[in-house]
Amino acid sequence: MNNKAESLTPETVMATLSKVQDPELKKDLVSLGMIKDLLIDGGKVSFTIELTTPACPLKAKIEADARHAVEALDGVSEVDINLSSSVPSDGRISTLSQQMIRNAVAVASGKGGVGKTTVAVNVAVVLARLGARVGLMDADIYGPNVPTMMGVDSIPGSTGEKLVPAEAYGVKLMSIGFLVQPGQPLIWRGPMLHSAIGQFITDVEWGKLDYLIVDLPPGTGDAQLSLAQLMPLSGSLIVTLPQKVSIEDARRGLEMFRTLDVPILGVVENMSYLELPDGDRMDIFGQGGGEKLAREAGVPFIGAIPLDPHVREGGDVGVPIVVSHPDSAVAKALTSIAQDLAAKVSIQAMR
Ligand SMILES: Nc1ncnc2c1ncn2[C@@H]1O[C@H](COP(=O)(O)OP(=O)(O)OP(=O)(O)O)[C@@H](O)[C@H]1O
Ligand SMILES: [Mg+2]
Repeated sequence: MNNKAESLTPETVMATLSKVQDPELKKDLVSLGMIKDLLIDGGKVSFTIELTTPACPLKAKIEADARHAVEALDGVSEVDINLSSSVPSDGRISTLSQQMIRNAVAVASGKGGVGKTTVAVNVAVVLARLGARVGLMDADIYGPNVPTMMGVDSIPGSTGEKLVPAEAYGVKLMSIGFLVQPGQPLIWRGPMLHSAIGQFITDVEWGKLDYLIVDLPPGTGDAQLSLAQLMPLSGSLIVTLPQKVSIEDARRGLEMFRTLDVPILGVVENMSYLELPDGDRMDIFGQGGGEKLAREAGVPFIGAIPLDPHVREGGDVGVPIVVSHPDSAVAKALTSIAQDLAAKVSIQAMR
């Protein structure tokens, strides 16, 4: 008997899919438990690939590889693939908060004014738009800028004991800026700082989050150190400018996370270059510093973000550039940085 359809079984399909790799996680889809709901109906094979993030940068490749592999099997007439996602957690944050926050990622730099908040805001919005559940915590208790950049000036209020976070562009956000008068100087003593940040985790109704992005204040002083210690971070993203002085400060920020045993997911170079009308690139602040920092520290370089006046304009009026100018070079860079970051979080969580 040589009935082709007869040789098509769940086992043969799984065996074939066990040769398809997730290029980021470097394991096959079957061992990773990513294949769900496999059904064979005559020559039609359908299954779900459960990715580790809806922001997966390689989802098209993974789907195509799986499709090609199954299509090559004898007796297959049609392959129907459904993509879903479930974000893994390294378990660090949920133990503290009792909430379902799967991963907290700090955006940091030793230096001020390099674009930490800009990166945090846009990365959060990109991840939410790709379908992840995202929170954004403004841990810059001295100069909270998240409310302005997200165009929100208050939280809805509280439910019993918990504060309800504001929401903008699909992202839940909380900032000390919501709790103090605008323009009022913020002076914190150590214990107050501890309790304020602690409350931002425990007393805010975050609900279920795949990613909590944490915008840290500049510097590597005691305040930053205790903030980073208070937050059970899954990882950190270091922002730098290309020039030497910025890199030195960013390196101090990076070393701080090392000391605290927080994984450094990568380095981003902001304000890398200016794109001129003729398409040429002009390096305003030097070149290649972010890559050099990443290389020397032995951490991944995640990407370079060009200069664009729309970034500042959007920040001032509360419309992130990925929303106002989604086709700009800056928005594209920020999108791929967000996706790469999500993939790195998954890799970290699955270690
Ligand atoms: N790629 C860019 N192109 C143009 N302007 C930018 C870019 N990135 C950031 N900016 C602008 O630079 C300023 C500083 O950025 P941002 O507030 O994000 O930095 P920061 O590191 O969070 O600063 P701080 O240390 O004060 O918290 C803002 O006005 C922002 O709009
Ligand atoms: Mg900031």
